[in-house]
Amino acid sequence: MDKRTRIFTALDSADLDAVRALAQSIAGAVDGLKLGLEFFTALGPAGIRGIAQLGLPIFLDVKLHDIPHTVAGAIRSLAPLAPYYLTLHAAGGTDMLNAARETAHEEAARLGLTPPRLLAVTVLTSLDEGDLAQQGVAGPAQDQVVRLAELARRAGIDGIVSSPREIAAIRAALGDGFDIVVPGIRPGGGSVQDQKRVMTPGEAVRAGASALVIGRPITSAADPAQAAADIRAEVDAA
Ligand code: C5P
Repeated sequence: MDKRTRIFTALDSADLDAVRALAQSIAGAVDGLKLGLEFFTALGPAGIRGIAQLGLPIFLDVKLHDIPHTVAGAIRSLAPLAPYYLTLHAAGGTDMLNAARETAHEEAARLGLTPPRLLAVTVLTSLDEGDLAQQGVAGPAQDQVVRLAELARRAGIDGIVSSPREIAAIRAALGDGFDIVVPGIRPGGGSVQDQKRVMTPGEAVRAGASALVIGRPITSAADPAQAAADIRAEVDAA
């Protein structure tokens, strides 16, 4: 893939046929497909292969978080699926992140595949400062986001998932060469649904996002192919 901002469509469903049909209809306008826990816990690796057959890169959003040995084992099991992006929690700590990176690279080399780009999740956007205080983390949530992003970067993780509002602080702290992948994207004038702090696709590109994760503005549109094409045009023009 080149350096343009990539668009991954979030296909949050456990219905393989519906996901496949939707993916086919938008394939020409987007760069990849994000499949998460709902899909993976219902349909497993076979389901992922069924969608990967369409030929688009897969963003496997399973947010791994466990002891290093167990996360390494999970990454070994997932390696044959060769996802483009794979998520894990930065809060798992340096040893877990190192084990994940080493195992991802070793397994990819053994199988003759490209290693996944590992993306760290920092503070879930469903948590606020009150939640963090309950966990003994004092101070602004954004400070914890940047701390965890720095920890992930030091462990050789390839990027992070972040709210579009945090792109600037993360780029300032970590510089280029680190993927910043952002959900919470809403085309101008559209419904925000349950997302609270949104940006338009063009705003997020200009703020420095490496990739956008866009679900319902495409998947719930009356014409998903047209919605995806409109977003592609906005991203490419930004
Ligand atoms: O439909 P929508 O565009 O809101 O989908 C955004 C996707 O990004 C969903 O799969 C959601 O789970 C995911 N996500 C998010 N906010 C985060 C992390 C992930 O919306 N902080």
